[in-house]
Amino acid sequence: MANDQVLNQFTQSFEEEKAAVTKKLKIGIIGTGWIAEAHIESYKEMEDVEIVAAADLIPGKAEAFMKRYGVEGVRFYPSHKEMIDNEELDAVSVCTYNTAHAIPTIYALEHGVNVLLEKPFTVTLDEAVEVCRAEKKSGKLLSIGFQPRGDVNMQMIKKIVDSGVLGKIYYIQTGGGRRRGIPNSTFIEKSTGGIGALGDIGCYSLDMVLNAIGYPKPLTVSGYKSAFFGTNPETQYADRFHTAEENAKRFSVDDFAAAFIRLEGDIVLDFRIAWAMHLDTPGDTIIMGTKGGLRIPSTECWNGTVGGEMTLYHDLAGVMMEEKIPILKDSSGKGLFYKKIRSFLDAIINNEPAPVPTSQILYNQAIIDGIYKSSEIGKEIEVEIPEI
Ligand SMILES: NC(=O)c1ccc[n+]([C@@H]2O[C@H](COP(=O)([O-])OP(=O)(O)OC[C@H]3O[C@@H](n4cnc5c(N)ncnc54)[C@H](O)[C@@H]3O)[C@@H](O)[C@H]2O)c1
Repeated sequence: MANDQVLNQFTQSFEEEKAAVTKKLKIGIIGTGWIAEAHIESYKEMEDVEIVAAADLIPGKAEAFMKRYGVEGVRFYPSHKEMIDNEELDAVSVCTYNTAHAIPTIYALEHGVNVLLEKPFTVTLDEAVEVCRAEKKSGKLLSIGFQPRGDVNMQMIKKIVDSGVLGKIYYIQTGGGRRRGIPNSTFIEKSTGGIGALGDIGCYSLDMVLNAIGYPKPLTVSGYKSAFFGTNPETQYADRFHTAEENAKRFSVDDFAAAFIRLEGDIVLDFRIAWAMHLDTPGDTIIMGTKGGLRIPSTECWNGTVGGEMTLYHDLAGVMMEEKIPILKDSSGKGLFYKKIRSFLDAIINNEPAPVPTSQILYNQAIIDGIYKSSEIGKEIEVEIPEI
């Protein structure tokens, strides 16, 4: 081979390498409401990202959103469909309300676009199954937006379980809630929220413990849900657009849910979640095993961390021990939303599995769906998850 041929080879590969490094991921945002703010703030910090398109059903909303965040050169669309039909996108953030999670996600996957979908996965198990099938067929990456997974103290729960110090896990109690904390907006109507506290914050409490124990399959669910606070003008409140009376009338989802769930591996899960109640907390999260028990102080885990020092109970040489697990500090200097979005993009770039895979969250959704259905018929149901 002549000398210049040899050199040209190197020039070419160097150019390709440079192109690969400077290639920006083209991102579209579907739904430019409240949570899209956290997405755009994180994307804006990333040098390898270019926000090229945004869609919202409400005319002018996406334009005003991008103007507010000083993002220029973005093309705007009236819905996910026009955006995906007209753009060459590497990925989309699906930031629509719960009842509009499945359709844009399926459409994006069918058109070869990777998806970061906000939680909860969907409203029903049937929708989640359809999304999983579209994901499988597409070969694209779909990750569900559970940012507390990036929290070091949450990760510690899983590390404790994985260490074996608890032995075989047989009983878990989880959930939580607020004395008053109904979010209103699109969360409280069935047509947009679909499910209430159960899907909004319940999915996080379930993920915290199910992820820690390796997401065993749910077998049966006996569920309950109610809406005493959301439908009562005295415990509702006014927002920018509605009086308390109007919000009470609009309220058509659950504000409290509870369930007893049997999981594969002879594990039972006792769960309760509240947007509002006459209590400070419905209890700590506890994980009981044959060798040890873990108490996680009542936590608003949806805000991303544990509610205080955890306590590990176990026996040592016949002595009953109690050990405090100190609260860990995150040294990454990055917020949970940044980490959630970065891990999604890195998985695309490095051809790795989704950071929060649907194979796990399908079980989370099956439990939520089971609680809803069991509550409707007033008895325990068997969870049936179709083949994907
Ligand atoms: N991860 C978190 O911490 C967190 C926090 C809050 C909300 N969320 C989730 O984010 C989602 C959105 O919540 P939000 O408060 O931003 O809702 P929102 O109602 O403020 O915004 C949703 C937007 O989506 C738009 N939209 C709906 N369907 C569309 C479609 N097909 N194409 C384009 N736009 C469409 C609506 O017009 C609306 O502007 C919910 O599922 C919620 O559970 C997650």
